[in-house]
Amino acid sequence: MPSIISISGVSKTYATGVPALKRVDLEIRRGEIFALLGPNGAGKTTLISIVCGIVNRSTGTVTVDGHDISRDYRAARSLIGLVPQELTVESFETVRSVMNYSRGLFGKKADPVFIDKLLKDLSLWEKRDAKVITLSGGMKRRVLIGKALAHEPKILFLDEPTAGVDVELRKDMWALVRRLRDSGVTIILTTHYIEEAEEMADRVGVIDKGEIILVEEKAELMRKLGRKLLKLELRSPLSAIPPELARYQLDLADGGGTLIYTYDNQAERPGVATLLRDLEAAGIAFRDLDTQASSLEEIFVSLVRKAS
Ligand SMILES: Nc1ncnc2c1ncn2[C@@H]1O[C@H](COP(=O)(O)OP(=O)(O)O)[C@@H](O)[C@H]1O
Ligand SMILES: [Mg+2]
Repeated sequence: MPSIISISGVSKTYATGVPALKRVDLEIRRGEIFALLGPNGAGKTTLISIVCGIVNRSTGTVTVDGHDISRDYRAARSLIGLVPQELTVESFETVRSVMNYSRGLFGKKADPVFIDKLLKDLSLWEKRDAKVITLSGGMKRRVLIGKALAHEPKILFLDEPTAGVDVELRKDMWALVRRLRDSGVTIILTTHYIEEAEEMADRVGVIDKGEIILVEEKAELMRKLGRKLLKLELRSPLSAIPPELARYQLDLADGGGTLIYTYDNQAERPGVATLLRDLEAAGIAFRDLDTQASSLEEIFVSLVRKAS
């Protein structure tokens, strides 16, 4: 399936000399929820601002559904809805007029039926004639989503949609984003919450210090998530794994001085206790042991550490 967004060799250095993005290549698939996961200052907002034409890139090209964002800006931009990180919304207007106005900005004909449906989908129907200033933070955020969707874009960017949002509202937001995806909208969300990427994304891209350091199917990340490592510091190094231990997934490291057992918590594999018994039977003694869960958190932390 062809990508809906192609980002190629995109860099950004701000006037201050800060290199915010370093030659980023990224393809967004049509219809997916893509989570761009990274710590504060990683370059998430810069990247999506470039795709939306709010920030000028220093190098590279971006196409949105085949439209180059420089040569064909209006066509590209009209396909995109953006919910910015900061809650900026016209406060003294009513919810409905904010949405109507935003639709008009994109040159779309007024469509009260569509806007009514959007209000209902966003659970803002009751508040349609309320001034935005009277709404709670969670509702204001939904107004921003409505504003972003008012011109019927194919792509929705959500920049940190649940930063500072409490757990209940976060779950509502996730459900809403899924419904949008099911209606055919491609969704790119940025987050610094690992849990959010795990919960929401079809694919996850990890960004740090302006570089995309990993792009993977969420399911693949979850598979890694279920894995654990047991490291044994051996009393005397081994040159090879003894054949009687062949049924375990074992690797040697540190010149044979460390034995690493990779096992899966969910799978019906022999457990650690069995391995330790078999090691003893094979006459292999160890000085120390350590277990590690390779969670997305840990994959993330180790990637970020490696990149720095
Ligand atoms: N307008 C700007 N002028 C100068 N530097 C900026 C500007 N916006 C962001 N930066 C810098 O670029 C880097 C990436 O920022 P940003 O894209 O906002 O990251 P994120 O959204 O992942 O937190 C940071 O070092 C930030 O300080
Ligand atoms: Mg940001």
